[in-house]
Amino acid sequence: MDNKSDGYCTLVIFGATGDLAKRKLFPSIYNLYKKGEICHNFAVVGVARREWSDEFFQENVLNSIKESKVEIGDDIDEFLEHFRYLAFDVTDKRSYQNLNALLHNLEEEYHIPSNRMFYMAMAPKFFGTIASSLKSEGVTNEKGWNRLIIEKPFGHDLPSAEQLNDEIREAFREDEIYRIDHYLGKEMVQNIEVIRFANAIFEPLWNNRYISNIQITSSESLGVEDRGGYYDHAGALRDMVQNHMLQMVSLLAMEPPIRLTTEEIRSEKIKALRALRPISVEEVDNYFVRGQYAPGEIKGEEVPGYRSEPNVDPESITETFVAGKLMIDNFRWAGVPIYIRTGKRMTEKSTKIVIQFKELPMNLYYKEEDQMHPNLLIIHIQPDEGISLVLNGKKVDATGLTTPVKLDYCNNCIDGVNTPEAYEKLLHDAIQGDATNFTHWDEVSLSWQFVDVISKAWEKGGHIPGYKSGSMGPEESEQLLAKDGFKWWPIIDGGSYSI
Ligand code: BG6
Repeated sequence: MDNKSDGYCTLVIFGATGDLAKRKLFPSIYNLYKKGEICHNFAVVGVARREWSDEFFQENVLNSIKESKVEIGDDIDEFLEHFRYLAFDVTDKRSYQNLNALLHNLEEEYHIPSNRMFYMAMAPKFFGTIASSLKSEGVTNEKGWNRLIIEKPFGHDLPSAEQLNDEIREAFREDEIYRIDHYLGKEMVQNIEVIRFANAIFEPLWNNRYISNIQITSSESLGVEDRGGYYDHAGALRDMVQNHMLQMVSLLAMEPPIRLTTEEIRSEKIKALRALRPISVEEVDNYFVRGQYAPGEIKGEEVPGYRSEPNVDPESITETFVAGKLMIDNFRWAGVPIYIRTGKRMTEKSTKIVIQFKELPMNLYYKEEDQMHPNLLIIHIQPDEGISLVLNGKKVDATGLTTPVKLDYCNNCIDGVNTPEAYEKLLHDAIQGDATNFTHWDEVSLSWQFVDVISKAWEKGGHIPGYKSGSMGPEESEQLLAKDGFKWWPIIDGGSYSI
């Protein structure tokens, strides 16, 4: 990690008039400013096609902060002064020369060393052009550090990701590239490592001797909203599985790193992804199921089916739901299925991981009417953040039977704990030069390699099961687990974990 003066830098946001900048980046930058993580010696240059003035841009930044949950303080005017705007044509060299001149001026005005961070928050088709022009026009100078933050999608399959990577690698070294996976900025995703490696009661059990299966669910109740144009070409597999879901799998499955450094952690995650059992196109149906949302009801309101959404092909066979069974073929995990499922227009917005432990060698308490409940460790990623442990206790009666008891720890229920937004944490890390919670190229490429086979099988057409909006996906997803003798644990805790 670099030193604290890394906070002295300029941040260039490509796509500064866009949705991501507005919803996530500006409020996060302001929060970092309020916390003193970035100080007087910083400047932000917003870059986009439209002709905006600095004042108009600053007004937009202010509005986006007002619309977020971030509280505005007396320092807001001083903060906004650090924001400048540059109308930009990504294909015109002169734009880059103007940017360079503006950065020099700002570095002088705010006494900033020439540490430059470039944030690509725009359509990926220009990432390569921008990176190479930044270099050819001398914007990535050699005095301070240069870092490139790059948003997903990082390609739409392995060949396109490789091409994009080659293009940006012409201008930036691997250690200068920060590929965003915003799930890695979530508090409880970062907590997976701590739960595993800081607790003597879990790590010894974290293997195929004691764990029977792992279930990761990331469900959303929203549909595709206004992103039909992008989503209809992507689908849930590319949109969620290739990145967020496989990242969670790698954190759960990795070996303990020998040190908590970026290189060691990434190297263990890469090894876990390398151990994923490859599946052939012919085998895909045995491991993965897909679905597409049909009309239904979400929280009492009728909602349309996917094919009637704006900018979606009325005959689309794009999946809005994926469930899969992953096997990690190494000594620790051989024989333990890791089930994943994700989709839009499901019952609830929720991300949860359930670790199901194996049964005891024999059940002393077994009576016909009492099947002992398996022990579960539940990691609540969102919206609630915390951990639950499902154990067995004695039923308070004379039957001598057992009953499941649930121990809950809720992170975001503690008064005064306001966990920072994923983007705030990731921006902070990038400014500090800590790439641990960003994806290395090897992770990206291994994930595409795994996912491409599934896409290939599904591109052939075939039947795409529908599921009612507001449900937990198609029946096929239940069958995927049922054929192994398991079932999905509920994502909504009714206090009941009965079998
Ligand atoms: C994004 C996907 O990466 O993650 C979206 O493109 C999805 O389709 C989103 O809605 C989910 O993120 P979160 O943080 O709301 O779970």
